[in-house]
Amino acid sequence: MKNKYEKICHNLKETKELAEKFAKLIEDKGCFVSLYGEIGAGKTAFVKLVAEALGVTEKVTSPSFVILNEYHTAKLPIYHFDLYRLENEGVKTILDELREYSEGRQATFVEWAEFSQDEIPFDHIKINVTYDEDESRKYSFEATGHDNITIVGELNK
Ligand SMILES: Nc1ncnc2c1ncn2[C@@H]1O[C@H](COP(=O)(O)OP(=O)(O)O)[C@@H](O)[C@H]1O
Ligand SMILES: [Mg+2]
Repeated sequence: MKNKYEKICHNLKETKELAEKFAKLIEDKGCFVSLYGEIGAGKTAFVKLVAEALGVTEKVTSPSFVILNEYHTAKLPIYHFDLYRLENEGVKTILDELREYSEGRQATFVEWAEFSQDEIPFDHIKINVTYDEDESRKYSFEATGHDNITIVGELNK
């Protein structure tokens, strides 16, 4: 099964459709997702749309200043980290904590500091977001681990 999937979303509506499709695939078992990409690429926008598709009733905002936002009103708990403000060394020290958020039934999203391309030492789905043009964004998914490969395989269908 393919462990990669790429989608060009020409506008926010198409990103919403992708987010809804993804939400359906993770709502039973949860998932650990790490997102990479320049500021303004569309990482937070994607997380917000997935959280809304999962039924969050609160307003979903960027956790840039607080590092972690959590939501407990959706079909499963949602944890949204933004490690942008951590130095590279700081990212390394948080990996053990993040591993705990990758275990169990919850959706965890981590917006990663661009400069940190360290490999994450547990199963996850990596999403790289790049600007295409205007409102067009490319979302590239790559999965490690059996369940995550199944999820990304389903995106390909
Ligand atoms: N197709 C698209 N997908 C996602 N965001 C888009 C798209 N087109 C325009 N945007 C806009 O791009 C911005 C992305 O910002 P944000 O998600 O906060 O970026 P990041 O978290 O990667 O820094 C938002 O203002 C969003 O409305
Ligand atoms: Mg963001």
